[in-house]
Amino acid sequence: MCGIVGYLGSRNSTDVILEGLTRLEYRGYDSAGVSLIENDELEIYKKEGKLNNLKSLLKKKKIQSHRGIGHTRWATHGEVNDFNAHPHATSDYSIVHNGIIENSQELKEFLMKEKHTFNYQSETDSEVFLALLDYYFKKNNNFLHAIGEAFESVRGNSAFVLMNTKENAIYCVKKSAPIVCGLSENITEGFISSDPYALVGFADRIYFPEDNVITKIELSSGETSINFYELHGQESPRYRLQESSKNLEVSKKGQFEHYMLKEVFEQPILIRKLTDFYLNDEIGIEILKKVTKTRPKMIHIMACGTAYYAGLVIKGFLEDINRIPTNVYLASEFRYQNPILNSGDLTIFISQSGETADTLASLELCKVNGVKTLSILNVEGSTLYREVDNNLLIKAGPEIGVASTKAFTQMCLMGFLFSAKLENFSDEQILSETHVLVERIDHILQSTDIIQNVASSIYRHQGFLFTGRGNHFPIALEGALKLKEIAYVHAEGYASGELKHGPIALIDDTMVNVAFCPPNLIDKTISNVQEIKARQGFIVTIGDKSNSELERISDEFIRLDFSNLEFLTGVYSNVISQLLSYYIAKLKGTDIDKPRNLAKSVTVE
Ligand code: F6R
Repeated sequence: MCGIVGYLGSRNSTDVILEGLTRLEYRGYDSAGVSLIENDELEIYKKEGKLNNLKSLLKKKKIQSHRGIGHTRWATHGEVNDFNAHPHATSDYSIVHNGIIENSQELKEFLMKEKHTFNYQSETDSEVFLALLDYYFKKNNNFLHAIGEAFESVRGNSAFVLMNTKENAIYCVKKSAPIVCGLSENITEGFISSDPYALVGFADRIYFPEDNVITKIELSSGETSINFYELHGQESPRYRLQESSKNLEVSKKGQFEHYMLKEVFEQPILIRKLTDFYLNDEIGIEILKKVTKTRPKMIHIMACGTAYYAGLVIKGFLEDINRIPTNVYLASEFRYQNPILNSGDLTIFISQSGETADTLASLELCKVNGVKTLSILNVEGSTLYREVDNNLLIKAGPEIGVASTKAFTQMCLMGFLFSAKLENFSDEQILSETHVLVERIDHILQSTDIIQNVASSIYRHQGFLFTGRGNHFPIALEGALKLKEIAYVHAEGYASGELKHGPIALIDDTMVNVAFCPPNLIDKTISNVQEIKARQGFIVTIGDKSNSELERISDEFIRLDFSNLEFLTGVYSNVISQLLSYYIAKLKGTDIDKPRNLAKSVTVE
């Protein structure tokens, strides 16, 4: 949440920072701002709304600056306006912040008691850190020490990037929030960001400082140097160096109108790529072999949002195929449930970004309890990647659309590969399933006009109930989430059999039932659909093309071919919800890639 980019070097810093922020805009887009050093003066430019507003403002200025920090905001404290946008600054230093200062009020009172006067310009918790920095800097006249002392006083997960007018340097410090630093190949430029993705093509050496380490990148006589310090000022060895970011790529929309659509269309290739890596590539084979060597007594899965729903799908594999009891927890609830963890259990953390604060907090608890940890994860090098015992990377590439699509599919597939290998399925058995899946998804993608037509017949309805049974229940939950997120309509996911226990009261002719009809549980599912039809609900069924009863009872019947698919029918059906939500959102004219109020990579708890 919140994109951060800092730059120091010979290029015009505005260009580099805006390019980085553009790549990170999916992390927050309520407002954006930059602070730049121009002729030794600190200038601030901020604009409410999407990054384009800031870009238009900066276009009118003729800025020549070689040092600056920038930010795209996802509001936590203080409403969305220019004042609350970052950076926050005095005439001597500026900061950008990602995270929450939980004791900001307490700190404000402390500064008042100390009679430190500070002219607050915003309602943000972030600016309290600036006031604190000002307080300590005035006390000891040392920027590094002031950062350390100020940072020691704040509670909560945060990352700050900072600079001052006096030193040709940029600084950062963080705790349980992502920060990455980089130097260009010829070490003439330095970068700091909240995401390595912003540094692709700019930085060749990537550094990951640990928590409570201050990083200083300095430029002197045309060369940059990078140094790490503990909060009390002594040099620190606590960082990790990665030689290159070349294995990362910058995602482009290409011929697609939205990243979301592009990412839905990437799925067949990605399924092949993932299967190929874990079944045919020596490295992939070894990784999967290692993590399936011992059979856990019990498995606990922690995740949030779409990744949580992928967890429910994976629970289905682990219980059906492996008969291993599996709990799936919302990561934000896990800590408060007094979970029972035993040695011999395995904990799995599912995440696209690897930076989700709640998921990371649940990991911390598992580590304290000494249980084995495994990730199912997209972003290599992320905090989750570094903190677990083993990683199963889902190899989805950058997911830019804020609503997750391809990552969900890859997470489920990774869970299937793990479960199948744990049960010694042969490669042929696995491949016969995944080949069919690819072929069927390809078929959906070749006939999207069918889904567009269904979208046009339902997009004006007021409410949507997504229903499913068995392994299609998590798909119903995920389908409803997708529609809510990008089309801003009320949608709920329910187990088909649960409707009659309450929600059926909502049904009238303004409601749509999107019913996922798993082939193995078809009769009972049809009965539930009939109950909604009898109450004038509009029926969209997603089921096997050979089922004439579905044909008869549906207002719209989206025909799938479930033949020769045993385990991945849910993953296959889910592609229909991805496209249905997409086309409904398009008809409603929402901002599909950057839906309101959301941000990707939720780094606050
Ligand atoms: C929904 C969505 C979110 C994420 C959730 C967890 O489309 O993207 O619900 O799934 O915020 O994020 P990760 O997977 O990065 O941990």
